[in-house]
Amino acid sequence: MQNHQRENFYMVSTSYPSANIELLLQKFVFVLYLLIGATLNKIHRSEYMSAEMEELESLAAKVGGDAAGALGVLLAYIGDQAGVYRALDELGPVTIAQLAKETTLDERYLQEFLSANAGHGYVNYHPGDETFDMSTAQAAVFAREGQPTCMQGFFQAIVSQYATHETALETFKSGQGRAWGDHDQCCFCGTDRFFRPGYEANILEHWIPSLSGVEQKLIAGGKVADIGCGHGTSTIMMAKAFPNATFHGFDFHAPSVEAATNNAKAEGVSNVQFFESAAKEMPDNQYDFACIFDALHDMGDPVGAATRIFEVLGDDATLMLVEPMAEDSLQANLEKNPMSSTYYSFSTLVCVPTSKAQEVGLQLGAQAGQARLTGVLEQAGFTKVRRASSNAANMVLEVKA
Ligand SMILES: C[S@@+](CC[C@H](N)C(=O)[O-])C[C@H]1O[C@@H](n2cnc3c(N)ncnc32)[C@H](O)[C@@H]1O
Repeated sequence: MQNHQRENFYMVSTSYPSANIELLLQKFVFVLYLLIGATLNKIHRSEYMSAEMEELESLAAKVGGDAAGALGVLLAYIGDQAGVYRALDELGPVTIAQLAKETTLDERYLQEFLSANAGHGYVNYHPGDETFDMSTAQAAVFAREGQPTCMQGFFQAIVSQYATHETALETFKSGQGRAWGDHDQCCFCGTDRFFRPGYEANILEHWIPSLSGVEQKLIAGGKVADIGCGHGTSTIMMAKAFPNATFHGFDFHAPSVEAATNNAKAEGVSNVQFFESAAKEMPDNQYDFACIFDALHDMGDPVGAATRIFEVLGDDATLMLVEPMAEDSLQANLEKNPMSSTYYSFSTLVCVPTSKAQEVGLQLGAQAGQARLTGVLEQAGFTKVRRASSNAANMVLEVKA
């Protein structure tokens, strides 16, 4: 209360007893009002604070987990490249000294590495005899290359982005494109390893059979184009399964074409050839079947690429478009697509910059969604687009003239 009010009250109270009571009452009501107001305010404030605190606590816990995971992923990559997980899987429970002897790795580094891994839950520690081992599930995720559960390719693809973080930042700040070939070498191997288990589990068993009449055609023979084939994993897989058909893989990234050619040679597959070519410039061989695995959205001019594919397909041919699983809007992705944050992240770092670096630069992004993709295909001249198959990671569109 202000001094002059206090004075007034005192003066009034001494001079006029009845008015004094009235004023006392007024003061009491006023103080009560203040108290109630303050209490209400306090309640609101504490409710507000507790909701905020709850959000803060859960966000901090989640992000803390993410940050720990970022370190875990790097360690998992190191353990993969240094052969630690494979050795641990093969040897069973081992002491650090035994593991160091078997892997010829430094004992002290292994001790720290395994302690971190035990903390992350990637390996098990047995305090009784001070040994480490991996459960079947841990081995399936970290050690067993070739199994669909092995996530080392995923880790490698992530680590490749950290490897060139300064370029990623410059690209992001400049708004300019970044060529596919400008990424760390680890990105190309990581992408191949990342997609391979999904392709091994799906291309021959689910995706091709989901297309009408394609499997029968390929068993009999025919010409196939795999556009944006990268290291040729999908092309070689199909070439091995359909020895009567001829396979051509196209990619504009020369080192990938070289890797694909070497991979085919190493696997002794003779009905496959790889060519360095932009999608828009592929030759007109009147293909019976064309496919694009996780590459259309990376292209600068997907309409131009699809138009060329339309031109080089023979009568009644099919295009199989495999793209990352995505809903048709950000909101739907946030609500229904658990992979969307991963895809949007890769898209920020790789897919959008790759498209931006090419002519037209449409920048579909890795979460384009079926409606947008259908629009692109229709612009190219295709009239029939059908979702033939899908899983958590990919959608498969059957596309026809
Ligand atoms: C994400 S990778 C997928 C590679 C492979 N299909 C796979 O699934 O492992 C995208 C590929 O598209 C290729 N690419 C991007 N734009 C291209 C274009 N305009 N013409 C041909 N290839 C292109 C890149 O070189 C890269 O190999």
